[in-house]
Amino acid sequence: MLYNMINVCRRRDFRFQRMTSTTREALFLVIFSLIATASSRTIPCLDGCKCDLSEDDPVIRCDELGLDRFPLPHSSPLKGFHFLALTCNDIETIPAISMIKASFPDLQGIDVQGNTRLNCSHLASLHSEIPVLSDCDNEKPLQCDNLDKSCDWKCRALAKLKEMWAQFKDLVNRKAKEWQAEETIEAAKDWFSAQFKKFKVAIGDLSD
Ligand SMILES: *[C@@H]1O[C@H](CO)[C@@H](O)[C@H](O)[C@H]1NC(C)=O
Repeated sequence: MLYNMINVCRRRDFRFQRMTSTTREALFLVIFSLIATASSRTIPCLDGCKCDLSEDDPVIRCDELGLDRFPLPHSSPLKGFHFLALTCNDIETIPAISMIKASFPDLQGIDVQGNTRLNCSHLASLHSEIPVLSDCDNEKPLQCDNLDKSCDWKCRALAKLKEMWAQFKDLVNRKAKEWQAEETIEAAKDWFSAQFKKFKVAIGDLSD
């Protein structure tokens, strides 16, 4: 059902198609990467990053390190990590997807919010290959010099997801009037709503 709807959207409105696939990817990545942490073991890796080897939530954390380059392993690939948190650095360019996949074969998502010099045109080609959370489509970028200390990388990813969810609902509501295809749209909303709830329960966030 959702797939049908996305095909309809593709034909009708390119911006909507972009939003839908981005939102879908974000939901996909959080389901894989942000599930509650059981046990965890953290080791130093890459250029000052921390590789967190928890069973359910293997993540590479490189947030707030002042990195001006996208970190890549010097020798062997870093296998088994699902998420790369790069929030609040000074990264300008993102390597080609082939390079990212060779370096991090199991990666399901990247968070590059709060990199003010990032060239957003590099992200366009990545979106179909790997979900990326960024400020590129956002009028209010992450304020790295004024971070909420109680909100870690996981919380920031959730906040971004919530914003995308609100945008999606808003867009669907506006489009519903135009298309007069309420059944399809309701089904799509239900699907997103169910996925979103699952994710929130998974990370123990039960608020609205
Ligand atoms: C961003 O990247 C594109 C494509 O590689 C390039 O053409 C453009 O000049 C870059 N923009 C900036 C501001 O560096």
